[in-house]
Amino acid sequence: MPTANPKDIFKRLEEHAQAIHSTKITDLFAADPSRFDKFSRSADDLLYDFSKNKLTEETLELLLELARAANVEAKRDAMFAGEHINTTEDRAVLHTALRNQSENPVLVDGKDVMPDINEVLVNMGDFAEGIRSGELTSHSGEKFTDVVNIGIGGSDLGPVMTTLALAPYHDGPNLHYVSNVDGAHIADTLAKLNPATTLFIIASKTFTTIETMTNAATARKWIAKHCGEEAVGAHFAAVSTALDKVAAFGISEERVFGFWDWVGGRYSIWSAIGLPLMIAIGPDAFSDFLGGAHAMDNHFRTAPIEDNIPFLMGLVGVWHRNVLGYDTRAVLPYDQRLSRFPAYLQQLDMESNGKSVTKDGTAVETETGPIVWGEPGTNGQHAFYQLIHQGTSIIPCEFLVAANSHEDDLQNHHNLLLANCLAQSEALLRGRSLEEVEDKFRKDGKSEEEIAKLAPQKVFPGNRPSTTLIYDRLDPFTLGRLIASYEHRVFVEGAIWNINSYDQWGVELGKELATQLLPMVEGSQSAANKDSSTQGLLKYLKKARNL
Ligand code: F6P
Repeated sequence: MPTANPKDIFKRLEEHAQAIHSTKITDLFAADPSRFDKFSRSADDLLYDFSKNKLTEETLELLLELARAANVEAKRDAMFAGEHINTTEDRAVLHTALRNQSENPVLVDGKDVMPDINEVLVNMGDFAEGIRSGELTSHSGEKFTDVVNIGIGGSDLGPVMTTLALAPYHDGPNLHYVSNVDGAHIADTLAKLNPATTLFIIASKTFTTIETMTNAATARKWIAKHCGEEAVGAHFAAVSTALDKVAAFGISEERVFGFWDWVGGRYSIWSAIGLPLMIAIGPDAFSDFLGGAHAMDNHFRTAPIEDNIPFLMGLVGVWHRNVLGYDTRAVLPYDQRLSRFPAYLQQLDMESNGKSVTKDGTAVETETGPIVWGEPGTNGQHAFYQLIHQGTSIIPCEFLVAANSHEDDLQNHHNLLLANCLAQSEALLRGRSLEEVEDKFRKDGKSEEEIAKLAPQKVFPGNRPSTTLIYDRLDPFTLGRLIASYEHRVFVEGAIWNINSYDQWGVELGKELATQLLPMVEGSQSAANKDSSTQGLLKYLKKARNL
C-alpha cells in the first residue's frame, strides 16, 4: 500500500471535523458510557485524560494515521540514536542521554557519550555534597548559606522551576536566581545576602549571553569589594559548554561543569545546568529526577503510539491547532509548586515550535506552535478564567494535579484543590444553558423582562476542551516524568509539522539590534539611520536621563 501523505490526512481530518461540527462533547459522553476508558491512558501512576475534547474514535484513528504518515516513530528513533536532527546547526539532540540510567551506550558520531556524562554527574555530586555538608567552604572558611545561579532562558528557567517544584526535598542552602539584565534583579537579590557565605554559579551554554555576562561581572565585583579579589575563586563556579571562555573569566577548572552542543538550552535541566537543583535537593534526589525522565523516555520509545502519552498529547495538540484552529493552550497546574511550569513550557514549546519554515526550507502549509500560557489554579480562576468560560476564543485547557499532597495535615486544602480542578473541567464541558439560567431566575422571582436581559449574560456555552494529567505526588521522579512528557509532546508536534524544533534563530535579531542600539542609548552614537519611532524614543530617553 502506498504511504499516505500527511497533507491528504489533514484534508480528511478537516472533512471529519466538518462532519462532527455540530456534535457537542457532552453528546459524545451521553452516547458512550465508556468514553473515559476509551480516551484516557496511564503510564504507572500518571493518568492522561483527554476524553473532554471534541474527538471520536475516528478522529483518533486519523490522527494516528497522520503520525504514521509523518514518520514520527522513525524520527523519534533517529533522535534517540544520535542522528543530527538539528539540521541547521548540524547537531544531534540528545538530552535523553543525560538521563540514560540504563547500561546502554549512546553514540554521537560513533563515540559513546555516556562515560563523559557520568563523569560530570560524579563531579557535580562531589561539588554539591561539598557545598551541602560545608566541606567546601567560603574564602573565610564558613559554610555557604546561599547559592545564586546567574543564567537566563534555559540556563535559568529549568533550575528555577524545579527548585520551586521540589521545595519539600530542599535541604541544602538557600537558592536564588538572577536572570534579568535589569539591575534591579541582581540588586534586590544581593541586598538580602551575606557575601562571606554566598556562592555564585554562572550558568551559560555559550558563555557569551550578554545578560549573564553582565550579571556575572557585577557579582564578581561584589565579592571582590566585600571579601577581597583573592576570594573570587572560592565563591564562583560555572556551567557551560564553552570551557575556554569560562577559563578566561577566571573560574578554576575543578569548579567548571561542562555539557555538550547536543544539549539544547531549553532541554538542559538534565545536564550540569541542574547543579543548583542538585545542591538544593542532593545528588540522590537529583538522580530520582533523572530516573523519572528516563522512565518517560522508555515509555515514549516503546509504548504503541495509541497508548503513548506524549504521542497522544502531541496529536491532540495538532488536532486543536491545525484542524480546529485554536491559537493558544493554557497550562493550568493545580499545584502551587508548579507555579513556574507554564513559564518553563513557554520556552520549551514556543522556542522549539515557533517556526514557519520546514526542514526543507519551504514555508509551512499549516499553523505551527500555539501560544502557551498559564498560571496555577486556583489563582487563575479568580483572574482570567472568565475569558476561558465566556470569551469568544476557545482555549484548550491542560489541567495538572497531584492525587496526594505533601501536606498530610492539610487534607482539607487538598480536597478543595482537587474539587476545584475537577469543577473547572466539568464547567468547561457542560456549561450552563439559557433554560437552566431562566429557571433559576424564575425560582428567584425575577420578572420576565429582567430575565430576558440578564439570563443570556449568565449562560456558559460549555463544549470547551480540556485535558487532565493526574500524578500521585509531585516528587523528583514524577517531576522528571512530567517534564519529559512535555518535551516529547513538543517533539511529536514538530515532527508532524516537519520543522526543526531544536534551533532558535528567531531570537538573534533582537540581540543584534540591542548591541547596535547600546551606543545610541549611551549617547555616544547618532541614531540618524533609525526609524522615526526609535529616534523619538531615544530622544525622549536622552532628555529624561539628562544625557
Ligand atoms: O536567547 C535564547 C537563548 O539562546 C536560549 O535558547 C538559551 O536557553 C538562552 O538564550 C541562554 O543561553 P546561554 O545558556 O548560552 O547563556
